[in-house]
Amino acid sequence: MSPAMINLAVESETKGGDDSIEIEFQKGVKHLCDKGITGVPSKYILPVPDQPKSSNGTWSVSNRNLKLPVIDFAELQGSSRSHAVNSLRKACEEFGFFHLVNHDIPRDLIENMIDVSKRFFDLPFEERSKYMSTEMRSPVRYGTSFNQNKDEVFCWRDLLKLSCNPLSDVLPFWPSSPADLRPAVVNYSKNTKLLYLMLTEAILESLGILVDSKKNENENDGLREFENGSQLIVLNCYPKCPEPDLTLGMHPHSDYGFLTLLLQDEVEGLQIQHEGRWVTVEPLPGSFVVNVGDHLEIFSNGRYSSVLHRVLVNSAKTRISVASLHSLPFESTVQPSPKLIDEANPRRYKDTNFASFLDYMSSREHKKKSFLESRKLT
Ligand code: OGA
Ligand code: NI
Repeated sequence: MSPAMINLAVESETKGGDDSIEIEFQKGVKHLCDKGITGVPSKYILPVPDQPKSSNGTWSVSNRNLKLPVIDFAELQGSSRSHAVNSLRKACEEFGFFHLVNHDIPRDLIENMIDVSKRFFDLPFEERSKYMSTEMRSPVRYGTSFNQNKDEVFCWRDLLKLSCNPLSDVLPFWPSSPADLRPAVVNYSKNTKLLYLMLTEAILESLGILVDSKKNENENDGLREFENGSQLIVLNCYPKCPEPDLTLGMHPHSDYGFLTLLLQDEVEGLQIQHEGRWVTVEPLPGSFVVNVGDHLEIFSNGRYSSVLHRVLVNSAKTRISVASLHSLPFESTVQPSPKLIDEANPRRYKDTNFASFLDYMSSREHKKKSFLESRKLT
């Protein structure tokens, strides 16, 4: 379809009535942009109250960037561990998000991960489309929006989702082009998994569930389940957008897992809800943005909260991010830690597992925090 025809769809505000236009949307945002659209098609236009500059209900939009708390990974591993664990607790309680600096992952590995992601999205559509699937459970899925089967309004994002469990089984299904994608993601996933495990140890310590692991190596069997946990790597591409105030790169959502480690390029776009406002997270080069997911909120019985976040797009630059989502094994039950429940602190969440989350996700439009809400005991 020519740019003129796609733009015609924009101008005539076609609302899914034309099948051929609907098929174009299913091919993703990168494809639309490569075709040369000059406006945002109606499929992507949010209702005015949900647009990025609108104050939605009680959530106004801050015009100042937010500096997230900074957690120093080296400090966590050293003699100031208890100080760093305290900072971690505060960050998880007050923000649900933090920057992680001084982690051991080499800079070239990180830069290469962003670079190979860019090169994947720059491949011709025919190459990318080999991995296209609308099956939400597929271990490899190239797609667009969140749930492109159900989302009424699409978001301005294309994604490549790579399940990492177990690596040897899934690897043959990962894209074979660019040629260095598989080794780059394998290397990246192993490094982020290790980092996640060490962070999780500190988080359990911050909740008072584990004792100082540097002093008592044998008492921490509780970590074993995390070691066998699940990992998903999602490469996100937010192409530059001709009318960025009408749409979002990701709609407000919380992450379902235990922790997410997010790598972003130098372009800002991530916004989180904080103190009654949507605020843009100021990028900190070389750091990871780490956030509490739904499973950690449940596990901590609500002490740490899985905060809603969204992604803005812009008209100047395409933005790339790589999310590494970690949780317990797929078959595990997630429940509030018994060590955090007593008469004064009754259990606040029902048990949950991945299967129920995936059923929920496949069956409906991705809406805000609704899954977590459904797990709350009232
Ligand atoms: C996510 C996410 C934010 C970003 O992948 O869940 O929130 O900036 N990503 O890409
Ligand atoms: Ni997220």
